Amino acid sequence: MTVTDEFARTYGPTALILGGSEGIGRAFAHELAGRGLDLVLVARNRAALEEAAAQLRKDHGIAVTVVARDLTAVDLTAFATQLLAAHDVGLIVCNAGATHGVGCFIDAPLSKALGLLQLNCTAPVVFAHSGLARRKARGGGLIVVSSMSGLVGSGLIATYAAAKAFEITLCEGLNFELKTQGLDVLCAVAGLTDTPAMRRSGLSFEAAAAAGYTAMQPQEVARGALEHLGRQAVWYAVGEQVATTLRQMPRPQLTGIMSQASAVMYGKAP
Ligand SMILES: NC(=O)c1ccc[n+]([C@@H]2O[C@H](COP(=O)([O-])OP(=O)(O)OC[C@H]3O[C@@H](n4cnc5c(N)ncnc54)[C@H](OP(=O)(O)O)[C@@H]3O)[C@@H](O)[C@H]2O)c1
Repeated sequence: MTVTDEFARTYGPTALILGGSEGIGRAFAHELAGRGLDLVLVARNRAALEEAAAQLRKDHGIAVTVVARDLTAVDLTAFATQLLAAHDVGLIVCNAGATHGVGCFIDAPLSKALGLLQLNCTAPVVFAHSGLARRKARGGGLIVVSSMSGLVGSGLIATYAAAKAFEITLCEGLNFELKTQGLDVLCAVAGLTDTPAMRRSGLSFEAAAAAGYTAMQPQEVARGALEHLGRQAVWYAVGEQVATTLRQMPRPQLTGIMSQASAVMYGKAP
């Protein structure tokens, strides 16, 4: 049995990607299709989903179902139940959840913060519960895409940073609890990554590079995550050493560094 066959046997026949139409989610789609899995892709923009699906079918000859839905505006429990009953999903990727832009917490609408909680906290809990329970006897996996912002509280992105911390902590616990049951849980912690959503949100990759933050490509994040699935609870795309160095800093100092980084990237530094 090849590595690809083994992967498809463990996590197939179908992978579900929340936020699978572009960026990191779309890179996951290509990687998983290349390993022979059929796909269910969820995102808001139907045209982008259809375009991604057509490309995936053409390149890999797999089946792709698209579901155009705003995950901040659905009953996630009902939605997950319906999707997971309709498809034999062995791997779930919770990807959608970036903060688009930065700003003062009390000046932004409350709905923005609540939407981030729905995408980054409620969705992983709901889909982990329904999805992994169904695969208890057969094995399967869950990947949650977090961020280096989850290492510490951060001004201008306070809710986002807190939600991304939740994802890391959730995956650590689930990994510990479920690994003996053949269920693999991984938190893939992305660093700055060049995605369409980030570009649309006004992030300046040029300003980031000038400040020493080099963006990764989506496929580097997706490939790295899949390589580490089943091996550990948390994988840092920027490297374990960088994460360790940051974690060892005094937290107030790290909060200052992260807050300043967000301000610089969005042209809001004083
Ligand atoms: N890019 C970075 O620099 C970076 C850094 C660290 C961590 N991350 C993490 O990586 C993940 C992906 O980030 P990203 O930059 O690609 O942007 P993103 O907006 O989180 O993800 C893009 C994908 O999610 C879908 N999506 C977004 N909001 C949605 C909603 N409300 N309902 C359904 N689908 C939704 C998008 O399609 P539609 O717009 O059509 O809905 C698209 O398919 C996030 O969890 C983010 O926190 C990113």
